[in-house]
Amino acid sequence: MTEGRLVYLSGDFVPESEARVSIFDTALMFGDMVFEMTRSYNMEPFRLRHHLERLYAGIKILEIDCGLDIDEMEAATMETIEINKDRMPEGVDYQIMHNVSNGPLGLYSSVFPEGIKPTISINVWPLTWHLAGIADYYDTGVHSILTQQQSVPARYIDPKIKNRSRVFYQVANLQAHKIDPKAYALLSDEDGFITEGTGNNFFIVKDGVIYTPEGRNILRGVTRGTVIDLAAELGIPLQETNLEAYDVHGADEAFVSSTSMFILPVTKFNTLPVGDGEIGPTVQRLTDAFSGTVGVDIVAQAKQYKAEAEATAGG
Ligand SMILES: Cc1ncc(COP(=O)(O)O)c(C=O)c1O
Repeated sequence: MTEGRLVYLSGDFVPESEARVSIFDTALMFGDMVFEMTRSYNMEPFRLRHHLERLYAGIKILEIDCGLDIDEMEAATMETIEINKDRMPEGVDYQIMHNVSNGPLGLYSSVFPEGIKPTISINVWPLTWHLAGIADYYDTGVHSILTQQQSVPARYIDPKIKNRSRVFYQVANLQAHKIDPKAYALLSDEDGFITEGTGNNFFIVKDGVIYTPEGRNILRGVTRGTVIDLAAELGIPLQETNLEAYDVHGADEAFVSSTSMFILPVTKFNTLPVGDGEIGPTVQRLTDAFSGTVGVDIVAQAKQYKAEAEATAGG
């Protein structure tokens, strides 16, 4: 590693400690900021274009005039990765975070004599600590708890737009953690159908078929798309359908998906075991196949990062 990482901030590269957002930013006032989280495998971004397409869907719907088209955003992303190549721990995969808003509100323009610019940040961050925190769950599975806090229906705040108005996800986390501090919160819609986790999508497996909630009141995760593609490649039937707590109790397996972890088994649901409480063959098959696709043993990588994080903390 040479020197500190640099963040792309509205056209400039600045050190992480100087990458700041104004208190007058519309993101802080209204939460109308869109964002993305992409990760690398073998130091190459995975499905970056999928993430940027979702980002630009949000940019269009929220009418954010960010001044870059999707190709320019991709180029700025690749430049951010390139400029940080020698500033990152060698051989460590990273996440790429995009945050985009219209910038400070016009009402406060006198604070910005140089003119108001949209806020665009792109930064890279080593995945060591993210993956260290979940490494054990590939072996044990996670405990999913359906919370009293429900998803906001898409007609109010559309969760398909990956946006920073995330209070309801945080309340769900608080509720789940009161029951089990390590639990993963799971939300439902107004009819009681399961929607998604607070940072992941949800799946069950029953009699060899994978089921996942329809893409209605959820963020349509890029990883959810990867699972759908992979299941088709492996010849595992997959259906998007309404799921209730009852269906999870009767499932053979369950799992959650998100960018940083790919999938994690859910071995406990609302304090009861899912299936026999062990990691099932479908989760294993998807994990192995995905590791093959990206050329990284994702479970071994998480365990290696955990060992490195512990060594750093210890030393
Ligand atoms: C609410 C929510 N659902 C699902 C996901 C999974 O999306 P992806 O697979 O694109 O990471 C996330 C990721 O952050 C999320 O915040």
